[in-house]
Amino acid sequence: MKILGIETSCDETAISLIEVDEKKRTVHILGNTVHSQIDIHASHGGVFPVLAKREHEINLIPVLQKTLVEAKMLEKPEVKSPIGTDTLSILDREKTLQGAFAEFIPTIKKPDVDFISITTGPGLEPALWVGISFARALSATWGIPLIPCNHMEGHILAALIKKNGDHYELESPKFPALSLLISGGHTQIVLIESIGSYKIVGETRDDAIGECFDKIARTLGLTYPGGPKISKLADEARASHIQSPEPLPRPMIDSKDFDFSFSGLKTAVLYLVKKLTKDGVQLTENQINGIARETEDAVTDVIITKMRKAIEAYAIETIIVGGGVIANTHIRTHLEKLAQDSSIKLLLPQTDHSTDNGLMIALAGFFNTDNKTDSRTLLKAMGTLALGPRV
Ligand code: KG4
Ligand code: ZN
Repeated sequence: MKILGIETSCDETAISLIEVDEKKRTVHILGNTVHSQIDIHASHGGVFPVLAKREHEINLIPVLQKTLVEAKMLEKPEVKSPIGTDTLSILDREKTLQGAFAEFIPTIKKPDVDFISITTGPGLEPALWVGISFARALSATWGIPLIPCNHMEGHILAALIKKNGDHYELESPKFPALSLLISGGHTQIVLIESIGSYKIVGETRDDAIGECFDKIARTLGLTYPGGPKISKLADEARASHIQSPEPLPRPMIDSKDFDFSFSGLKTAVLYLVKKLTKDGVQLTENQINGIARETEDAVTDVIITKMRKAIEAYAIETIIVGGGVIANTHIRTHLEKLAQDSSIKLLLPQTDHSTDNGLMIALAGFFNTDNKTDSRTLLKAMGTLALGPRV
């Protein structure tokens, strides 16, 4: 089964084409392209939805083209027929993309694809809409069924493939599993009884972990996205035994539930920096590095404590991690230790599959073929789409 996965929920325009062998449980990534808009959003200190929409409109056709070339599926058609007005009207709200679509799509042959899967939420609605309209227009042109997918399920599934030579093996994890989803927009602990059956057992009450890293980084004078920069400075501080001028709080670490709160940590850093820079004094390099280290330690302490409690509470067999923040080696190392101490299996995504990508949406498509629909269905962007009920 071949699936074209399209992802535009935030600031990555991403398309992947995979082939899954259901019997052998193997996945071949035939083409995979991620176009990041980080540089464009950096000057805004975060992702700016209207800009993200505009960029997706510009990038979707080139990203599709690159993916099809990589998959060796970009061929010229025998006859070139223009796109019908009904199909083009799907893109009426995306004029830039509509023009590029009308020009490019008739020049290529329908690719050998069984399904097109598309993120319908959660995410930034203006950004989601672009991908949804694009997927519907492709589906209408080529007569390929569409599968609406949840972005967070994609993050979970990205950890289920393990590289083996030229392809990937699809893991069959033992359940119940616990998924830790940590990104710029989300912080959730999800109880998984089987693939497709998700319950939210804990989530952030305010800022997401990545958002917390990014905001603290900004207070420390570091540019967006701040997470990787904090991580680097924290490593330097540890190597040279630099401490934070003051300890930072571990919000909600002792609460009985599995919820998180990170805005207090952000505020604590803000006050500390205000105090240290009172009379126009600049922060020293040691102070910045020390605060970065303490920030990372505080976040890690909270995550590990909550995960340890949840593992016991739900008799967990597997931990599955997803989201861009798992690129953080300190958090990764502590999760590895937690899994080892609890004698349970830890599934981590390959680093380049942890941030948003089309592969995870193609995989979500594979597991959701029962939800297939066609281009006549008006799929909606659902900014706050939940993965499952809150328990
Ligand atoms: O999953 P992702 O690519 O996008 C969202 O869906 O949000 O995650 C991006 C987030 C950003 O907040 C970024 O600062 C954070 O992941 N991040 C990190 C690291 N690498 C990326 N945070 C901490 N340490 C890192 N090494
Ligand atoms: Zn994401």
